[in-house]
Amino acid sequence: MTKLKNDLLIRALLRQPVPRTPVWIMRQAGRYLPEYRATRAQAGDFMSLCRNPELACEVTMQPLRRYKLDAAILFSDILTVPDAMGLGLRFAEGEGPKFERPVRNVAAIQDLPVPDVHETLGYVFDAVRTIRRELDGAVPLIGFSGSPWTVGTYMVEGGSSRDFAIIKGLAKEDPAALEAMLGKVAKMTTDYLNAQIEAGAQAIQIFDTWGAALARDDYRRFSLASMQQIVDGLTREKDGQRIPVILFTKGAGEMLADMVGTGCDALGVDWTTDLKTARTYVEDKVALQGNVNPATLRESPEVIRQAVADALASYGKGPGHVFNLGHGITPDIDPDHLGVLLDAVHELSPQYHV
Ligand code: CP3
Repeated sequence: MTKLKNDLLIRALLRQPVPRTPVWIMRQAGRYLPEYRATRAQAGDFMSLCRNPELACEVTMQPLRRYKLDAAILFSDILTVPDAMGLGLRFAEGEGPKFERPVRNVAAIQDLPVPDVHETLGYVFDAVRTIRRELDGAVPLIGFSGSPWTVGTYMVEGGSSRDFAIIKGLAKEDPAALEAMLGKVAKMTTDYLNAQIEAGAQAIQIFDTWGAALARDDYRRFSLASMQQIVDGLTREKDGQRIPVILFTKGAGEMLADMVGTGCDALGVDWTTDLKTARTYVEDKVALQGNVNPATLRESPEVIRQAVADALASYGKGPGHVFNLGHGITPDIDPDHLGVLLDAVHELSPQYHV
């Protein structure tokens, strides 16, 4: 196994001292990059890109060629898991994800299979191995999945949703059935992430984009409990190296305090909670990742630099900060503006690590 040439991300996630704050960007491989759009066109469509390990590797590497980033993130999607469960995923152009066979009732939940991940998602693990070979130890590779609740919203609603009316109806009418479904997704996701780790993923992030749509009690029952099930089942060490786990519930706010108890290593924070406040919620028991508003990247270089300075100052001195946006970079962003943000992190962060 190649030793990492740059292990700042791993060290910061484990709250170990670093000379500067490491940085990566959610959705760093994506449509804001012209080279990504060209490779996607070559693949034909988004899922064909995900299913082609060579091209998935190519788009994973694209942002690393342009920018000073401290991590690569596997190019894939959180919806590969329900697709493998037989729901029939398609990405209609300009419409977002759609499932042909959404899970709408108890019978469908009982019939939902939990297939072998090696048989159904082998293309993802092939991509992980291909990317690790290409990276050659330059930076760590982050593997990921969705949280069962977030993935479950797409499975039940049949696609993106504004109000989550159907799944919230199910939570009220038959909470045990919903828990059974989330349990199946958690089981499959645990196997999926462990296979990513086996193939070479060196850190894991669980994306819980829609957890904060739930009231705090329901969040604990339906979102946090199913993430807990995954964390409990994950491989935490490989080749003598700890595999850090990051949980990211967008809009978590005070629920960050509940998330610490899962045994994760780090929590993602969005821009609606400042890092200083988040640090008091988690009492420095875990690392924090975030949290510049992605919309800031539409502003001038001066405004972007100030946002970086503010986020660094808000976290303050000491280890345990991984710089990131508070959510994914959007397709409309000028790639040069991301360069401004990354340069500012490199320039301004060492003073917080003396
Ligand atoms: O660079 C990276 O961060 C890795 C790749 C990645 C993608 N999706 C690629 C993608 C990751 C980590 C995800 C996670 C994901 N997917 C989430 C959670 C994170 C978040 O942003 O909240 C969610 C909710 C999804 C589901 C999903 N995938 C939706 C709703 C959509 C359509 C909306 C959109 O942004 O276009 C996708 C498509 C998708 N996943 C794209 C990419 C680059 C765009 C597809 C395209 O090229 O047209």
